[in-house]
Amino acid sequence: MAPLAGVIDGAINHPGAARLRVLYGARHAGSQVLSREREHWRLALPWIETFDVAPAGHRQGSPLVHLDELFGDEPPDTVLCCGPELFMLATARDCMKRGVADSRIWLSVERRMHCADGLCGHCYVGESYACRDGPTYRYNEYRRLLASAAKRPAGQDSGLC
Ligand code: FES
Repeated sequence: MAPLAGVIDGAINHPGAARLRVLYGARHAGSQVLSREREHWRLALPWIETFDVAPAGHRQGSPLVHLDELFGDEPPDTVLCCGPELFMLATARDCMKRGVADSRIWLSVERRMHCADGLCGHCYVGESYACRDGPTYRYNEYRRLLASAAKRPAGQDSGLC
């Protein structure tokens, strides 16, 4: 959620800039972050929260299960996604099936970063370094990077941690 905080604030403070809808998933209520900010955001935007282990009266299950509710009849023209990498990839694929262009899906890729300066290679994504070139990638570009990583000889980083 933290990488998107500025975007959410921006959409609220500049209402003409974007019509933002948010789907926020967490393992359980105790693992949610930015409580004070969410209280404000929840009132200002269409907002859906889901839990792997939901408190009574709340939505249960992966955020992917709730995309229909979020999208309604009108798929968004842009999707911003952050979270575990495999979850983001599943979300991106699902959004594409619903008509969102892969170039309009943005992923905030968190890798195990050490040097944060393109030196150690811990954050490889194909020929890209998430610390230097990311961590935000368009999904079409990210898919290309993952495909190039898959072609690397055995023993080299696959690009997917
Ligand atoms: S963190 Fe070392 S190369 Fe990116």
